[in-house]
Amino acid sequence: MGKDLERVLVTEEEIHARLAELAQEIWDHYAGEEFLLVGVLKGAVLVMADLMRALPGSAPMDWMAVSSYGSGTKSSGVVRILKDLDTDITGRHVVIVEDIIDSGLTLSWIRANLESRGPKSVEICTLLRKPEAAKVQIDCRWVGFDIPNEFVVGYGLDFDEQYRNLRVVGTLAPHVYS
Ligand code: PRP
Repeated sequence: MGKDLERVLVTEEEIHARLAELAQEIWDHYAGEEFLLVGVLKGAVLVMADLMRALPGSAPMDWMAVSSYGSGTKSSGVVRILKDLDTDITGRHVVIVEDIIDSGLTLSWIRANLESRGPKSVEICTLLRKPEAAKVQIDCRWVGFDIPNEFVVGYGLDFDEQYRNLRVVGTLAPHVYS
């Protein structure tokens, strides 16, 4: 798999060190109050696994799966829910866990959707963010790494469903596309 990478942007060690910092910050932020981790399938699976294991104490998790209505309308930011939460989040603190904020449209929609359900608060934790790609501004409390506006794979991020299991985040070599 490694030979298909052109450049490593974030190493395994950097990812784990940063997620450990974020886990502590999240834990301290809620100061003993319970919070629910909400992962967005599928990319956030690895972030969730490592982030929650780095927490100093227990926290519940739940999952959502969403899809845009089609490639032609993705830029509209309109998404549909493929799998909703199992949990009623009314009156609860929610932390949305994501692998990447690209345009920001997906998270903008998810956040508004969750906020409409009467939670106590909604915050966002993302491993990666592409500031140059933003189409909407997202108030994201916890960000692992800001990266350039390049197509990246690994650590949950895919190219045609491949490379999610890479331990690093990197750019793909040109021969993979051709
Ligand atoms: C990715 C990522 C975010 C979204 C970010 O998911 O996990 O949910 O795209 O893009 P945006 O900021 O431009 O909206 P994707 O739709 O690729 O699904 P996946 O997690 O199953 O790979």
